[in-house]
Amino acid sequence: MAILVSGGTGFIGSHTCVELLNKGEEVIIFDNLSNSKREVVGKIERITGKKAKFYKADMLDKDALEKIFGENDIEAVVHFAGYKAVGESVHVPLKYFENNIVGTIYLCETMKKHNCKKMVFSSSATVYGMKNKSPLSEEMPLSVTNPYGRTKLMIEDMLRDICTADSEWGVMLLRYFNPIGAHKSGLIGEDPNGIPTNLLPNIVNAVTKKNGPLKVFGSDYPTRDGSCVRDYIHVEDLAAGHVCALKELRRRNGIEAVNLGTGNGYSVFEIIDAFEKVNGVKVPYEIVGRRDGDVAECYANPEKAKRIFKWNATRGISEMCADLWNYVLTNRK
Ligand SMILES: NC(=O)c1ccc[n+]([C@@H]2O[C@H](COP(=O)([O-])OP(=O)(O)OC[C@H]3O[C@@H](n4cnc5c(N)ncnc54)[C@H](O)[C@@H]3O)[C@@H](O)[C@H]2O)c1
Repeated sequence: MAILVSGGTGFIGSHTCVELLNKGEEVIIFDNLSNSKREVVGKIERITGKKAKFYKADMLDKDALEKIFGENDIEAVVHFAGYKAVGESVHVPLKYFENNIVGTIYLCETMKKHNCKKMVFSSSATVYGMKNKSPLSEEMPLSVTNPYGRTKLMIEDMLRDICTADSEWGVMLLRYFNPIGAHKSGLIGEDPNGIPTNLLPNIVNAVTKKNGPLKVFGSDYPTRDGSCVRDYIHVEDLAAGHVCALKELRRRNGIEAVNLGTGNGYSVFEIIDAFEKVNGVKVPYEIVGRRDGDVAECYANPEKAKRIFKWNATRGISEMCADLWNYVLTNRK
């Protein structure tokens, strides 16, 4: 039986496909290519030496989903597909509600119809909102500050209701912290459309002189050096977490939320420093005012993932920065 990966040509999805294929799983990818490229499938196959079946399909297209499930014997879905730009979601919330929420409803309906009731879902640390104090644990109260976050929270709630209504369902809600880095081969990595909002793609742009110096938003936070602290996790560690989640789902039903983070927080200045040292480059930056919606510190309590999945993030910040830069240099046009 196969694992269906929605959004499988995207940043985290492509690394997870590699990890699944390396573990001997049969992988089927579907993606509408709104934020990724078809050529990623060939790269996944080059890295692993294995074939992955690909459908260019939109999860809002019920007929396309029906075709995928009709043509294949699908055991579980690893569900990455969705829009993820927080800023954009504030301006066009309906676009996010339709794609992320309606898309997930159609996906779940099709799964149910074909008696496929296991899902690993890409949630986010954003569901912890701004009031909880780090380290963030799964049982803390949830709240969100923007429409993107709301889609994650609403989907978490929806999946919880589905599991309550039918005990044959099994769902893992994986709450990611800040995925960065790239595959060691330099073949796959993050390829953001437009101007990125995350720190690492902006560091890359500053080094390659794309958008001027890096803007450091605030240096007066109550942290060790005044800049914001975040929990960065290597995308390959994150991908490995999905394979563990899937293994756990094969043993059990019901729903669990699990953090995927390292438990270590790094400040913006520490990341700049690590990036410069490991890659031998200079990151030009300027300090500007605080940005709305940023908390001083956000990092995971990763104990639940260690306990349930026997999973641990193994790659440190230097490796994350080196692998990202290697990806940039390998793909420089
Ligand atoms: N990258 C992060 O920092 C981060 C953090 C927390 C959670 N997440 C979540 O993880 C998931 C994957 O993130 P990513 O960074 O790999 O993003 P990504 O944009 O690289 O990957 C998402 C993929 O989904 C596809 N897609 C979007 N809408 C679709 C639709 N209607 N039908 C089919 N395919 C569709 C896109 O083309 C893209 O390839 C997303 O759900 C995102 O919200 C990401």
